[in-house]
This record gives sequence, structure tokens and C-alpha cells, in this order.
Amino acid sequence: MGLKDKLTELKRNALEEINDAKDLKKINDIRVNLLGKKGPITEVLRGMRDLPKEERPNVGSFANKVRDELSNAISERKERIEIIKTSKRLEEEKLDVTLPGVPVKIGQPHIIMQVIDQIEKLFLGMGYQVVDGPEVEEDHYNFEMMNLPKDHPARDMQDTFYITDKFLMRTQTSPVQARTMEKHDFSKGSLKMISPGKVYRRDTDDATHSHQFHQIEGLVIDKSITMADLKGTLQLIARTVFGKEREIRLRPSYFPFTEPSVEVDVSCFKCGGDGCSVCKQTGWIEVLGAGMVHPNVLKMSGIDADIYGGFAFGLGPDRFAMLKYGVDDIREFYLNDMRFLKQFSQRG
Ligand code: PHE
Repeated sequence: MGLKDKLTELKRNALEEINDAKDLKKINDIRVNLLGKKGPITEVLRGMRDLPKEERPNVGSFANKVRDELSNAISERKERIEIIKTSKRLEEEKLDVTLPGVPVKIGQPHIIMQVIDQIEKLFLGMGYQVVDGPEVEEDHYNFEMMNLPKDHPARDMQDTFYITDKFLMRTQTSPVQARTMEKHDFSKGSLKMISPGKVYRRDTDDATHSHQFHQIEGLVIDKSITMADLKGTLQLIARTVFGKEREIRLRPSYFPFTEPSVEVDVSCFKCGGDGCSVCKQTGWIEVLGAGMVHPNVLKMSGIDADIYGGFAFGLGPDRFAMLKYGVDDIREFYLNDMRFLKQFSQRG
């Protein structure tokens, strides 16, 4: 076989190999093998020595042509591989921006916290301070300072969990009244506070009782506070939580730490007062307890009861939420069932 034929065959095989190359390493290997010093083309050129002189230029230029063609083919293939690589990468990195996003789960305050927040905002707007008190409380503050000495029969209504003889889980937020009164400096003005928090009672849990629930205590002490101030404040609470149209009604009641004491009813927000199942056909719903601070309570906290007086109230955010949202079992608030809690999303 003549050199030209050899070169032609070599070219055919090489082109096949080049076009089959799938990656840059392969194409590089081909280039080194084919066009390198030890490659077949160099080999063929070396064989020219044996040719008659007049044939050499002809074969030589043919060999150079073949080498150029192969060199071009390699470059083209290389380019092609690079394009394929890039488009593969683009394919892999493709991002469908029209896909719906993964929903982000957003938390929200518990429904009872929402009620507490609403009432806190109302009172902060009227210049009250929001005060915290301990849940593990002293018998001294929970009962004694609230005018409930040892063996007082009204202690029975608020049996609780005792930690020691001295410490117990507070049964009401009222002890925060005494704690705040003791510290208050009346030369700086009146005392106006609310205190939300958890309270405990030794009750057996059922639809309307829980051994743990919430209260918001309210207390105002100044020189000329009357029951009209109390009534106006209670009406504001009722209207803020249950709607502008609400009326309130005060019924005489008894608490050891207030005198006189009242139970507060709000006109039924469901039927407007005509009578329905929510208000048990009475048109009124009992929502909280209140009264004028008992002089004994003032005196025990070091306040001159001849000069100062005031009102106090205690309301249950759990009960407020039950009434407002038609929840018929208080235990729902504490079971943390998301299907229940999600219904009260503030974001709709
Ligand atoms: N502490 C009372 C209770 O738990 C409620 C209350 C507070 C009543 C303040 C009057 C004044 O029942």
C-alpha cells in the first residue's frame, strides 16, 4: 500500500475515533497519539525517506493536508464537547420558577394569648402598668394578704396544690395586688395595673374546669375612686372583647378582698339579650368578678384606707375565649391539637 493510501486510511479511522470521543480527556488523548512525535503521521512522514525524490513533495503536502484536517477535526470536536457539556449543565441547573413554592409554616400566638394581648393593649392605652407575679406563691400573699386568714371558710373554694406549708401554686392573680401595693410609691401618683398569668386549682378537669387556667387581675388605687369608675372600666372590657353594642350588669356577690363585691354579666353577644342557648335564655352571660378593694387589704399592704381606695377585678381569658369563639370544652386550649388551634389564625 502506497503512503497516500496509508494516510487516507489513517485519516478515515482517525476521523471516526475523533467523532466518537465523548469527553475532553479522550479528545486530548487522541490529539497526542495522532499528531505527537510518536504518532502514525510522523511515522508515515519518516517513511518518505524511501520514496523517489520527485514523489516526496506530493506525498509530503498530502500528509500535511491530512494532519491539518485531523487537527481541525479535533478542534471542532473539542468545541462540540464543550457545548454539549455546557448545555448539559444548563439542563441540570434548570429551575422552573413557575412551580408553586413550599409553604412556610408560620406560628401564631395561642388563642388565649390573643385574648390577653387584646386586653393588655386596651389597658396600656389607659396608662396601666402590666405586672408579673410568681406562679409558685406564698400562702401569705395568695390568702392572708387577700383577707383570707387561715381557717377562713372561703379558702375552700380555692383549694390548690401545696408545695410546702408556706408555698403553693397560686389560685388567683389577686396576690399580685398585694405585691404591687406594698411597693407602690403614692407620692408619684395613683396605682393602675393589670396582671395576666396562670393560676391553679385542685379541680377535676371537665368541660368547664381545668386545674390550670388563666386570669387577668386589675387594680386601681387612688384618692377618689368610685364604683362608677369600676363600672365604666368593666363596660370598656366587655365592649372591647365582645362588641360595641354590649351592656353590662352588676350583681351583688362576695369576695373576701372586695367590699362591696360584684359578679359582672355582659349582655349576650349572640342573641343581643333576647335569650338563646349561649346565655341559657337569660340574655346575660357572667364574665368576671370585681369590687371595691376591702380596707383590710389596703391596710395590710401599708396603705391608709381613710385616704386611699380603689377597685379590683379578676377575669378569665379562657372563659372569654370560650364564649367569644363558641368553644364548648376548656380542655381544648391545653391539648395542643393543631386542628383546633389553627382555626384561630390571625392571618386568616
Ligand atoms: N380573685 C377572684 C377569683 O379568682 C376574682 C376577683 C379578683 C374578684 C379581683 C374581685 C376582685 O375568683
